[in-house]
Amino acid sequence: MSFNISKKKKEEMLAKITIIKDFIDRNSKVPSLMEYLIMIENEIKNKKYGLVFEEYEEDIRNINEICLSEKKELSIEVAVDGKKNMLIEGENLEALILLIQEYREKINIICIDPPYNTGNKTLKYNDYDYMDLEDEYDHSKWLSFMEKRLKISKDLLVPNGVLFVNIDETQISCLILLCEKIFGEENIDVLIWPKMDPKYDKNRVEKPIFNVKVAHEYVVMCYKNKSSTFFNKMKRRPNHSDFGKPEQLFYMETILNEIGTTSSAKDELNEIFGTRDISITPKPRKMIKEFVRVAAGPNAIILDFFAGSGTTGHAVMDLNKEDGGKRKFILVTDNENNICIEITYERLKRAIYKDNFTENLKYLRIESKQSF
Ligand SMILES: C[S@@+](CC[C@H](N)C(=O)[O-])C[C@H]1O[C@@H](n2cnc3c(N)ncnc32)[C@H](O)[C@@H]1O
Repeated sequence: MSFNISKKKKEEMLAKITIIKDFIDRNSKVPSLMEYLIMIENEIKNKKYGLVFEEYEEDIRNINEICLSEKKELSIEVAVDGKKNMLIEGENLEALILLIQEYREKINIICIDPPYNTGNKTLKYNDYDYMDLEDEYDHSKWLSFMEKRLKISKDLLVPNGVLFVNIDETQISCLILLCEKIFGEENIDVLIWPKMDPKYDKNRVEKPIFNVKVAHEYVVMCYKNKSSTFFNKMKRRPNHSDFGKPEQLFYMETILNEIGTTSSAKDELNEIFGTRDISITPKPRKMIKEFVRVAAGPNAIILDFFAGSGTTGHAVMDLNKEDGGKRKFILVTDNENNICIEITYERLKRAIYKDNFTENLKYLRIESKQSF
């Protein structure tokens, strides 16, 4: 039975149930029939209109069982009064449950680039199982996974805070509905990011395509309250195609030209690690820099809980250096294939020393309390 029914259809079904209930009341000797019918009736009554999906549980430890444990040997202290940034290794739902204790309504910007659910072994559901696209509930599982995290994200944001979510065509329709459900329809904007641009794509390796080449992705922008959000301008060149001209300030547009591409983001990792062949698909630093510039002031706290290679941290440090801001970042990522230590942490560390950033970094791991 589909529960995603129109109001009229719902009322018709409830009317039929009433007729069956009367019949069972008068004639049936099987008491459980009435019980079953009442269960179905309640299920239909409880269904709201809009996005309907199955809820899935995750094996997340209780808040009382976990804590953040600082790994002092990995701390980076380059400035006496350096800003305290955090890199948290662990499952991000657990991290969010811990962070909300201290950061409720204190985060200005959240930038996330979650697994796109493309079946590329990017989304581990419940920490043991990769999402299987043959599973007819794969959209439900992804939505359920995202809903829990986005609800806490909203509670973390300051009243004029903004959440940016990168996504591609696989889940864009589901994500928009989910974000509308959590943030309200009036608090959503959808941006298009051209992920290819020959001017940036010096080292791009062309992949074979089937029929239509997908040349863009999306960013869903969710405002805690759009009417009270303060928008700064973003930096780009006067003419998108003119690379010779210096950057100037312009209003953000729904098409995000000139903020780098998938290929240029890999070049950025290459500059640090000497290889483009890293298992994460990073986002360009310029993209995150412009999101942060546009949607918050110079003392903002920025959170990314799908941090991957740490682009968000790098972008925040870059922007602070550029405009003298005192923004801080909190990054969370799991340590799948040693990503957190070998890529995220290592990238931030190398960037700090290479570019003389004045940022300190704390490395924290989510651990069970009983392990102490
Ligand atoms: C698409 S990547 C993000 C890439 C990032 N934007 C960058 O520029 O490098 C998503 C990252 O989130 C991590 N991740 C996925 N599910 C997670 C979870 N439940 N908790 C913590 N990290 C998770 C993955 O390991 C992966 O590194």
